[in-house]
Amino acid sequence: MDTNLRPHHLEEFVGQDKIKGNLNIALTAAKGRGEALDHILLYGPPGLGKTTLAHIIAVEMGVSIRVTSGPAIERTGDLAAILTNLHPQDILFIDEIHRLSRAVEEVLYPAMEDFALDIIIGKGPGARSLRLNLPNFTLIGATTRFAMLSPPLRDRFGAVYRLDFYDRAAIESILKRSAGILQIEAEDGGVVEIARRARGTPRVANRLLKQVRDYAQVMADSIATEPVAVDALAKLEVDPIGLDEVDHKVLHTIIDKFNGGPVGLETIAAAISEESDTIMDVYEPYLLQLAFLERTPRGRLATRLAYEHLGLTYAKRERPPQRSLW
Ligand SMILES: Nc1ncnc2c1ncn2[C@@H]1O[C@H](COP(=O)(O)OP(=O)(O)OP(=O)(O)O)[C@@H](O)[C@H]1O
Ligand SMILES: [Mg+2]
Repeated sequence: MDTNLRPHHLEEFVGQDKIKGNLNIALTAAKGRGEALDHILLYGPPGLGKTTLAHIIAVEMGVSIRVTSGPAIERTGDLAAILTNLHPQDILFIDEIHRLSRAVEEVLYPAMEDFALDIIIGKGPGARSLRLNLPNFTLIGATTRFAMLSPPLRDRFGAVYRLDFYDRAAIESILKRSAGILQIEAEDGGVVEIARRARGTPRVANRLLKQVRDYAQVMADSIATEPVAVDALAKLEVDPIGLDEVDHKVLHTIIDKFNGGPVGLETIAAAISEESDTIMDVYEPYLLQLAFLERTPRGRLATRLAYEHLGLTYAKRERPPQRSLW
């Protein structure tokens, strides 16, 4: 179902106008010259369309795409096998590219820069290095963790695009498009209610839409009206701005147990029994976007907005006494 909802052409891809504009120019120019597109890095929180964009780029270029991921390429030989099987202008899509091993990354450098593969034959003083030419391909890397990419890898991408959370209007048009594809009768009021809770994220919007459809089908004439959407979403424990149980736990932990913070991510993760990576990749970006959380060198802080959203009073916390040296 998710793949059905995935747009296949740049035109159908809603929002991210800046990226679309730049991409359109790059695509047109590369096609005009009959060359491979420059390597592209896509980064941003989950569910915003990185994988979708990679496939769209392949369709628009009219080339094949080979899909793999950082953790799937275990040995340098795995990468060499993939690279030598590419055709000119093909796209190699590496998801979670921040999880490539050092050794594999080092094979990637000359491949990206010179379209060459350096192979060492033999061992010891008699070892020789052989350079194998590769077809001109395009690497598209995707990551939720820009900061975890090594600088030499980052530098080898011709274009770096950061996907942002979508605004309300964009999410509403994604919902309308999806409702059309899934043949869901959704009234404007219902769409608005779903969009409010979609965390600016197309994947979340589509998920909520399907859940509202189920509820509408069982409880209400199959039409997703505003009251039906409100009821359905309340049952799913998604609050009016899209925060779920885990978001609430994160905020309450910082506020109730640690007096608003600062508190380290690992401590929060342990307190609510979640992986710290999940909090960092999935929950934190949206809480930061809402300005409910602040990242400081000493840990996470809950802001006044977070207190107010939870209906708590924000008492300006006292700073800990400065320790004197004598
Ligand atoms: N701009 C868009 N317009 C319409 N639908 C979109 C758009 N972006 C994403 N989607 C929908 O959201 C879903 C999630 O997008 P996608 O899988 O590309 O996200 P991602 O950034 O690769 O996420 P992850 O980091 O988890 O891999 C897609 O299946 C697609 O249906
Ligand atoms: Mg993806």
